[in-house]
Amino acid sequence: MSIEIELVSGNQGWPRAKGLLEAVWPPSEKEKLSWGHVKWARADLRVLIETDDGELACHAGIYFRTVTWNGQKVHVGGVGGIATRAEQRRRGYASIALNAAVHTMRDHDAAQFALLFCEPHNFDFYQSRGWQPFVGTVLAEQPEGKSRFEAMAPFVLDLKRRAPTLGTLDLCGLPW
Ligand SMILES: CC(C)(COP(=O)(O)OP(=O)(O)OC[C@H]1O[C@@H](n2cnc3c(N)ncnc32)[C@H](O)[C@@H]1OP(=O)(O)O)[C@@H](O)C(=O)NCCC(=O)NCCS
Repeated sequence: MSIEIELVSGNQGWPRAKGLLEAVWPPSEKEKLSWGHVKWARADLRVLIETDDGELACHAGIYFRTVTWNGQKVHVGGVGGIATRAEQRRRGYASIALNAAVHTMRDHDAAQFALLFCEPHNFDFYQSRGWQPFVGTVLAEQPEGKSRFEAMAPFVLDLKRRAPTLGTLDLCGLPW
């Protein structure tokens, strides 16, 4: 089976991504999760992997943001909404999508390091692909204001510079 990997703008890819994300996290089940009520940022770019029957099998959102780390502005890349349709898992699609997202952040932007958020059952997936836990404090905006973001665990990856693993990261906006 062949696959097609596309990099599209966040808005252009949204209609296709929405169908996949709702299949992976049905709204009725999502609302029961610890992060189900979090308001998330919209992706700037999306990696889409389609199988040759035209079905979207896997998605990764890419985000670019100027955040602050210990009060200093730093431009970072983010990855979020990584999901593979249940019947298409363990074929390497998420690994390919994550790789494409990391290459995009390295090649197309001045992002200094990368940041993602995940649940404990995915820690090994990201750690085995070079991501390290960020053990400092993360602040993020929500409609009710800025507060500590603890709904998911932050992981970082070196890009143009070594990613910090300690300190205070203020996302200066919604999380992803
Ligand atoms: C987490 C998730 C995105 C992984 O997607 P995936 O497409 O199955 O990921 P991959 O196939 O790249 O890798 C998954 C595992 O399958 C293994 N694998 C990859 N290709 C394989 C193959 N051909 N045969 C057997 N195993 C294979 C990989 O080695 C990996 O195991 P590892 O982490 O121990 O190395 C998917 O399980 C998912 O959508 N989960 C629900 C949503 C979610 O939790 N998303 C993450 C949000 S942060």
